[in-house]
Amino acid sequence: MTSFVTASLSRDHDRTGFRSGVEALDRYLQEFAFQDIRRRVAGCFVMLDDAGEIAGFYTLAATSVPLNLAPPAVTKKLPRYPVLPAMLIGRLAVATKRQGQGLGRALIADAVIRTESFRIGAYALIVDAKDERARAFYAANGFATIPDEARRMFLPMATALQILESDRRG
Ligand SMILES: CC(C)(COP(=O)(O)OP(=O)(O)OC[C@H]1O[C@@H](n2cnc3c(N)ncnc32)[C@H](O)[C@@H]1OP(=O)(O)O)[C@@H](O)C(=O)NCCC(=O)NCCS
Repeated sequence: MTSFVTASLSRDHDRTGFRSGVEALDRYLQEFAFQDIRRRVAGCFVMLDDAGEIAGFYTLAATSVPLNLAPPAVTKKLPRYPVLPAMLIGRLAVATKRQGQGLGRALIADAVIRTESFRIGAYALIVDAKDERARAFYAANGFATIPDEARRMFLPMATALQILESDRRG
């Protein structure tokens, strides 16, 4: 059985053959990910198979969300905070030949674990679903829509960690 590891994108990873079925995402990995890393506007993490081939990737960046995304029990104790800190998964894709095997879900889990390991303030994970298919994928993985936002969805970190824990218990 193939095993996978995740790592920060580095020049050692061969990005040229990555195909997710969405050209803009493939081009991002091939041409723009390093620029974003260099400019400190995103981190990029890849999932590698046994042979070191990129099976999927995602980006992570700090962002903020309106205070009303959190329940009053959380926000009433933060009277002067206009927004809540969050982590944005700006891009996420799985190689076509690896889709439907749970790797998309594993990439989200990796983003949750990574965010938790930073020990920073992040109330939720945020994604921008680029189309209905992406929206359905994120909804199937616990993300909820944000009122008045066309594409943005969110998953509170506390909920994400509970989902991971129950997945672990099987
Ligand atoms: C969307 C994408 C990331 C899904 O990755 P994947 O590895 O095929 O998904 P997984 O196998 O991990 O699926 C995880 C769960 O999401 C569900 N799911 C996956 N794609 C879905 C879809 N299009 N609609 C509804 N549910 C979906 C699966 O059924 C599974 O749920 P289950 O365990 O309850 O059965 C992948 O198809 C992809 O890279 N597509 C092209 C790029 C893209 O659209 N990225 C979206 C971010 S903008």
